[in-house]
Amino acid sequence: MSRLGALVLLRLAKDFFLLLESSFRNGLKRIQLYPLGFRSHYSTSIAWSVSADGGGNGGRVIVGKKTTLDVGVVLRAYGGSIDIGDHCSVNPYSVLYGDGGLKIGNGVRIAAHCVIVSANHRFDDLSRFIYLQGQDPKRVVIEDDVWIGAGARILHGVTIRKGTVVAAGAVVTKSTEGYSIVAGVPARKISTRIPAGSSA
Ligand SMILES: CC(C)(COP(=O)(O)OP(=O)(O)OC[C@H]1O[C@@H](n2cnc3c(N)ncnc32)[C@H](O)[C@@H]1OP(=O)(O)O)[C@@H](O)C(=O)NCCC(=O)NCCS
Repeated sequence: MSRLGALVLLRLAKDFFLLLESSFRNGLKRIQLYPLGFRSHYSTSIAWSVSADGGGNGGRVIVGKKTTLDVGVVLRAYGGSIDIGDHCSVNPYSVLYGDGGLKIGNGVRIAAHCVIVSANHRFDDLSRFIYLQGQDPKRVVIEDDVWIGAGARILHGVTIRKGTVVAAGAVVTKSTEGYSIVAGVPARKISTRIPAGSSA
């Protein structure tokens, strides 16, 4: 066999081994998380350190096809739901809460250290500790083709509309317009991805 042939064979064998290894690792991780209400497509890539928990009471974390959950990602449904679509990525150390319901569409990029919160503590009653006043859950929706920059925070009741770019470090307290770029604390629209004069 020629030297080139041997190199190609070696490369193919390495790719095959890596495929087997990642399928095995993802499979083990899925099995480990299943009793906690975690369901995912077999093509989902799940880092060892991912922590996911439906939180009982029918709480569920559901992840679609070819989505990547990177190291340190925490998904906590607290009895609600976290539903992540296909071809998404959740980057290192992002934390997603689903008590009020969290629905993420397809092709969504969530950068490192983001937090998505779908409930607030109630705090109207001064005579009682905040932790005794219960929660005010409100669904968060992230539509398709959204990019959320590093360290952004998305708060309860917000819909991030299709094609939005959320700048790094933004705190989003209100729903966004489709294809807008929002930045700052609280986040405001700074620009749009829609070219001037376009009817999109
Ligand atoms: C939002 C973002 C995409 C905008 O990029 P851009 O279109 O090239 O924008 P510019 O750098 O030209 O900045 C436009 C304006 O927005 C402001 N701005 C940009 N990013 C900002 C941010 N994160 N927070 C607050 N303001 C921001 C700029 O200061 C500038 O303001 P000015 O016009 O008053 O000078 C980019 O700044 C960003 O935050 N990217 C996220 C990067 C990231 O988290 N990557 C993770 C890897 S997945």
